[in-house]
Amino acid sequence: MHFNGKRILLGVSGGIACYKAVELARRLVTAGAQVKVVMTKGAQEFVTPLTFAAITGQTVGTGLFGPGIHPLEHIWLGQQVDALILAPATANLIGKFAAGIGDDLLTTILLAATRPVLLCPAMNCEMYANPVVQENLARLEHRGVTVLRPGVGPLACGAVGYGRLPEVEDMLAALSRLVSPQDLAGRHLLVTAGPTHEDLDPVRFLTNRSSGKMGYAVAKAAWRRGAEVTLVSGPTALPPPYGVEVVQVRAALELLAVLRERFPTADALIMAAAVSDYRPESLASTKLKRGSRAQELRLVQNPDIVKELAALKTHQVLVGFAAETGDLLAEGRRKLEEKNLDLIVANEVNRPDAGFAVDTNEVTLIPREGEPLALPLMSKDEVAERLLDWLAERLGGREAQGG
Ligand code: CTP
Repeated sequence: MHFNGKRILLGVSGGIACYKAVELARRLVTAGAQVKVVMTKGAQEFVTPLTFAAITGQTVGTGLFGPGIHPLEHIWLGQQVDALILAPATANLIGKFAAGIGDDLLTTILLAATRPVLLCPAMNCEMYANPVVQENLARLEHRGVTVLRPGVGPLACGAVGYGRLPEVEDMLAALSRLVSPQDLAGRHLLVTAGPTHEDLDPVRFLTNRSSGKMGYAVAKAAWRRGAEVTLVSGPTALPPPYGVEVVQVRAALELLAVLRERFPTADALIMAAAVSDYRPESLASTKLKRGSRAQELRLVQNPDIVKELAALKTHQVLVGFAAETGDLLAEGRRKLEEKNLDLIVANEVNRPDAGFAVDTNEVTLIPREGEPLALPLMSKDEVAERLLDWLAERLGGREAQGG
């Protein structure tokens, strides 16, 4: 979705991780991008240009000269795309890029490129740790190139260390930020997601059906749009979103403690977590035995977290979610008032295609000021974008507080 109609130049240099660049090209094409691949000579030893040509449907750039090659291609290519990604980037490519050497098509394109560059190094760990490689990366970062630091793990050479090409998912996430409007740049967003687990004994807890998908979608989209994002997440099965600081919590009281600490420096709080309204009155230190107690569970109320934070509000914009099974607008408005929110995202949870644990949602945005906006059924990713459109506009004129 984020690459729909985007033009991406994928520069591939000669390392064993070239095979992962094939998957990257495939994923970009599937996501709607037009992908032009340019390969160094070394890369062509690992994967043939034919592989990339078949996947992208475009000719692959392999040299500066030859029949069918336009004499100005090396100038245009880095200027007519939305972004460039170098994956894998070898120590040699990084060295040439940093030194301004243009001795083949890819390095010449980089000299003339005017569009954002994402560089994804992949090499042996000793090579990566070499001060000259680190200095070159630092120089490139200083000049505005985004470097995606390699992951740690077993390498093709048998060593274990830093040098692995980042996961395709992470490369896509980092690249998506380079091609998205940065309308939340400089903002610090606090986002909550998922259910809470309210412990009863060491193995049992009270919870709800929240999957965390909505909050994770908001966190991902906000980071892509330039925000610094802290995601405070209850227990979920979802992977941590790339670029986002994730703080894991279990119970409502823990969530409240983390939010109290982070709230003062945030520009907005987006409260998508499905907080349990109750917790067991007491926590048994050992597993409750069958028949050891009467069949009665005593509960006490948890604090209304978003309401408590709203009382501490200085400049923050507060967004809540309302999961309803009745009158959406009336209940949404009541909660907006009661909790002193700026916006409530109200949705029906008793339908199969909206609410808990599904990928779609049909919500109504109810702002404190202005008319409610009923959105059609859409993916949670799209709901996140629409919510952030509202937030970006709302924060628009204000000075960023984040840091
Ligand atoms: N919320 C919260 N603390 C709670 C319960 C809810 O901060 N203890 C937040 C949710 O994260 C959400 C909003 O309040 O953003 C509304 O949640 P919802 O469960 O719909 O509302 P409740 O206040 O629990 O009201 P009710 O149980 O009457 O529906």
